[in-house]
Amino acid sequence: MAYMTSITTIIDWLYNDLHNEKASVEYLKRLKEEGGTVFEDSIKVIYEGFFVFALIWACGGPILDAKVSFSNALKASSTRVKFPEGGQVYDYYFDPFTLDWKLWSEFVQPYDTGYDGLFNNLVVPTAETTRQKFLIKINRVTKKGIMFIGNAGTGKTVILKDYFMEANLDTTVCATLNFNNYTDSKSLQQVIEGNVDKRTGKIFGPPTGKVLIFFMDDLNMPALDKYGTQSPICLIRQIIDYTIVFDRDHLEEKKELHDIMFIACMNPKSGSFNVDLRLTRHFTMIALGVPERDILSTIYEQILSNHLSNWDNSFNGFANRVVGATMDVFNIIAKDPRFMPTAKKFHYQFNLRDFSKIIQNIMCAQPHIFRAQPL
Ligand SMILES: Nc1ncnc2c1ncn2[C@@H]1O[C@H](COP(=O)(O)OP(=O)(O)OP(=O)(O)O)[C@@H](O)[C@H]1O
Ligand SMILES: [Mg+2]
Repeated sequence: MAYMTSITTIIDWLYNDLHNEKASVEYLKRLKEEGGTVFEDSIKVIYEGFFVFALIWACGGPILDAKVSFSNALKASSTRVKFPEGGQVYDYYFDPFTLDWKLWSEFVQPYDTGYDGLFNNLVVPTAETTRQKFLIKINRVTKKGIMFIGNAGTGKTVILKDYFMEANLDTTVCATLNFNNYTDSKSLQQVIEGNVDKRTGKIFGPPTGKVLIFFMDDLNMPALDKYGTQSPICLIRQIIDYTIVFDRDHLEEKKELHDIMFIACMNPKSGSFNVDLRLTRHFTMIALGVPERDILSTIYEQILSNHLSNWDNSFNGFANRVVGATMDVFNIIAKDPRFMPTAKKFHYQFNLRDFSKIIQNIMCAQPHIFRAQPL
């Protein structure tokens, strides 16, 4: 059922975009004018492309280890809209104008070189951030939740930061719900109610015409109670299912929450290992792995090259060498059993955060203070 709602959400958005966007309406008109069966043939291909694209993310989104097998199986079975040879199905977006697949990497925005001194605010757009932002946009229209699942340092928070930085503040309001082991439904309800205004009578929500997105980082953190449930998770499920919360002082009174949606992140290896399936069925689930070596190099090289752009010429190529060397050390540590977390060395959790810290510290160096020669 969860897969079906995700598929229909994606197809719904693509269908409406095709029939309402000015450029695509004109394109469909042109196809009709060509006469014959051009329009019917093209529309069949477009709808099949949309269906396969929805299938990729609704059913293939939550897969992590078997991504290659899923991709190969889907490539083999989609005959009318054939995928290009290289890459996985996740790398492509179906373009109705050319009736063909286009690489997400073609849609990546250039890196914004402005740096406000806060390293954590730096986001380098990649194919991953671009396609995930697109999926958030689709889910935002129907207010269907989307959940990113991945180990520590797989870029979950970065994707959402990137989305919120570009969100249209005339139509979107964002609020963060922080979860930890002690979060209970009462404190969570207070935070949620603190972010909505009274509209009329029992109806509460963000200012009219806006959608309030609650960003729930580390959703699986709350501890299990003695019944094996997590009360804050149950509260979120109740809000999504019934759009109501009960007034805690007068339980016979209900408050209706309108125009809100939830986006969640969780690391399945920390906190409680599972989140109630009755909540997760409301979300489009996306599993994230550690980005590949060349993507990581691109991210950190862009950040560092930008920092070194006003240094003297002897630093040309320095970013490349530092990132390459850091990557080699990072890969050795990731594979060496001596650096694996054990019961005694549970803090041996090396991930992208540690990579980022090296680059962040190099960025503390300023050209007017630095006197030595580059390596
Ligand atoms: N596209 C990117 N641009 C810039 N930095 C990135 C990008 N992708 C990953 N990073 C870096 O990777 C590190 C980890 O990313 P992030 O904090 O999003 O991980 P996470 O999956 O939310 O981890 P956790 O589960 O621990 O919260 C950050 O330091 C971030 O700077
Ligand atoms: Mg995070």
